[in-house]
Amino acid sequence: MHPVILGDMSENSSTFDGRLLIGASGSAAVALLPMFVSALRGSFTGTITVLMTYTATRFIPASTVALFADKVVTGDDPATFARENHQSLTAENDLLVVLPATANLLSAAAAGAAPNLLTAAITAAPAPVVFFPVMSSEMWANRAVRRNVTQLREDGHVVVDPAMAPRYDVAAGAFVESPAPPAPPRFVELVREHLEP
Ligand SMILES: Cc1cc2nc3c(=O)[nH]c(=O)nc-3n(C[C@H](O)[C@H](O)[C@H](O)COP(=O)(O)O)c2cc1C
Repeated sequence: MHPVILGDMSENSSTFDGRLLIGASGSAAVALLPMFVSALRGSFTGTITVLMTYTATRFIPASTVALFADKVVTGDDPATFARENHQSLTAENDLLVVLPATANLLSAAAAGAAPNLLTAAITAAPAPVVFFPVMSSEMWANRAVRRNVTQLREDGHVVVDPAMAPRYDVAAGAFVESPAPPAPPRFVELVREHLEP
């Protein structure tokens, strides 16, 4: 892959370690997740576990993400429940980041609701969770979404404001400015900051 996409080691050549849990929810941007995981590998020497919602797995198969992460959990196999559940996943990892975080995920997390394994893990997480929201401009401006972001911040979580970036909208046949995930090197920097406070 392109070296700029994967992050430039010369910017910060020191490595960092830890056990990282990445929650992935059902934004189309989840298709970019392998790129973010690969970017981490440039300087992160720890383990990466990815916890995907059902909708996330509809956008990109867990088997594809598993080519990049140390472990992928979807919670759809009862045989794994004993060892891979919301309690064990949060206890066995140092930091939970959610990328991409949908409006739906933010809503559940802000309400303390746990309708799936990822939201249950957020509710069980002992440390603040770092959310990377990705959605349309209309959704990001929605008053209920704004309320949920405010609530999550009041509860001590970190919600990273998305960067506005052009995205090609197939239906419109044009580029539209929309809230996007950070560039991979910035994502790596933020993970480092929160793993090494
Ligand atoms: C093509 C497509 C793209 C979507 N992209 C987003 C998105 O970027 N952000 C978002 O909040 N929801 C998006 N959605 C809606 C979510 O998939 C939907 O709210 C879903 O219930 C989220 O489930 P989850 O939060 O459990 O993963 C998209 C839906 C479709 C069909």
